[in-house]
Amino acid sequence: ADLVVEEIKKMGGEAVANYDSVENGDKIIGTAVEAFGKVDILVNNAGILRDVSFTKMTDKDWDLIDTVHLKGVYKCTKAAWPHMQKNQYGRIVNVSSAAGIYGNFGQVNYSTAKSGIMGFTKSCALEGKKKNVLSNAIAPVAASRMTETVTPKEVLEKMPPESVIPLVLYLCHESSEATGEVIECGAGWFAAIRVQRAEGVAIDKLDPETVAENFAKIVDYGGEVEYPTKIAESVMTAISRSKL
Ligand SMILES: NC(=O)c1ccc[n+]([C@@H]2O[C@H](COP(=O)([O-])OP(=O)(O)OC[C@H]3O[C@@H](n4cnc5c(N)ncnc54)[C@H](O)[C@@H]3O)[C@@H](O)[C@H]2O)c1
Repeated sequence: ADLVVEEIKKMGGEAVANYDSVENGDKIIGTAVEAFGKVDILVNNAGILRDVSFTKMTDKDWDLIDTVHLKGVYKCTKAAWPHMQKNQYGRIVNVSSAAGIYGNFGQVNYSTAKSGIMGFTKSCALEGKKKNVLSNAIAPVAASRMTETVTPKEVLEKMPPESVIPLVLYLCHESSEATGEVIECGAGWFAAIRVQRAEGVAIDKLDPETVAENFAKIVDYGGEVEYPTKIAESVMTAISRSKL
């Protein structure tokens, strides 16, 4: 932390360090507010791994990941939120992961937390928009201490952390109106992810045999697919297509 502060100051900026864990987010935000009087931007970036197969995972492996990722994001955001609401300005970027989108072998704990961060981001986006508090999530791939032991060197060389940073800076800028997005990024490539829904099937006989008969169609993305963005679209679609 001190090295980063030194680096920022050398470049003419102002910075202060805080050494608390993100699970004590109120202390971290307190340091920022004490130094600068407000908080405009929060990047929830802290993370660790405890990769292990689900069979071998202990409660400790689960709790540690849950605490650093989910509770950390919650506590830092919860502490920054009232300041952002009061100032009618907030830009929050939460660092999720492809593991949270797709799942990953050996990462049940980590992918669960990273999925949770996406839900957290989308709900905060809805609650914050009126007061100009915008929340987005990124799913980065980049060379770091976290990936240096598990990714080949040739791949890491193509994806320095600097290739993710421009997106984070944009999402934190006052000109950005983006909120509720989940954006995959790495090696200078950026792409948003959304939900795709299959056409689906409405049945009028409520038994598992009828589901079995229709299952291929339930999971078929070849028909009239949709891209719902709101919870209301889930309820309304079920009701409007119901055959009951
Ligand atoms: N590197 C990748 O390819 C990749 C992929 C997907 C997601 N991520 C996510 O990106 C974020 C940054 O990871 P990275 O790859 O730069 O790894 P990194 O290990 O270089 O950085 C993680 C940072 O988090 C800090 N940290 C860990 N626990 C903390 C705690 N309890 N309180 C405060 N700080 C804490 C560490 O000190 C470190 O500075 C993480 O959330 C990670 O899950 C990284």
